[in-house]
Amino acid sequence: MSTSKTPITVFGEWAQIGKDEGMERHHREAVENMLAFALPSDQDFSFIDAGCGNGWVVRRVAQLAHCQLAVGVDGAVEMIAKAQRLDVANRYVLTDLLDWSPEQTVNLVHSMEVLYYFTKPLAVLQHIYKNWLSTEGRLIIGLDFYHENTVSHDWPEDCGISIMTLLSEKQWLDLFQQAGFQNCKTWRVGAKENWAGTLVLTGIK
Ligand SMILES: C[S@@+](CC[C@H](N)C(=O)[O-])C[C@H]1O[C@@H](n2cnc3c(N)ncnc32)[C@H](O)[C@@H]1O
Repeated sequence: MSTSKTPITVFGEWAQIGKDEGMERHHREAVENMLAFALPSDQDFSFIDAGCGNGWVVRRVAQLAHCQLAVGVDGAVEMIAKAQRLDVANRYVLTDLLDWSPEQTVNLVHSMEVLYYFTKPLAVLQHIYKNWLSTEGRLIIGLDFYHENTVSHDWPEDCGISIMTLLSEKQWLDLFQQAGFQNCKTWRVGAKENWAGTLVLTGIK
């Protein structure tokens, strides 16, 4: 199969045929693990989901008593249209992540299965660090496509996606540190036979 479509084009098509709901099911275990680590339990906070898909994580987080603001950002027209249909209470922004910044910086940026859809993931990490996060704000990301998860290596061809940057756990950690993040940590969620688990990375500004 030729790998000729951009990630945003492919995911727009997925939203049209309901495959966004499969992602929601498959990503939930890792996302709950990430949120359990990252959400402040007793302080008000603001939240952005970078590459929010149909907005399911925004809707989940917005219900929390301490959540003051939850925003979803995605480049696929059909994903944002679906998110807006499902939820009129929260804000969803149609944009490339590199082309947008919030009016006010936030305490927590979350991103599940998104940041390898960039030719230069470091540029996105730097942009989030500089323009999205407040001082002491946290970025937490989950990735299933990475070097140690060998079963994922065929995905660019299988999914027909033109940009998928394959890096190792150590390379991702180095990028977090190069972008300026402190107290960086990595771990994996849901590892089993033939599946190295979702690689989680987090750090603080
Ligand atoms: C694998 S999906 C994950 C969606 C969602 N995070 C979830 O877990 O259900 C990747 C998402 O990233 C978005 N995306 C990819 N590249 C992007 C870019 N350059 N700017 C904004 N969104 C992008 C896609 O449109 C898609 O919705």
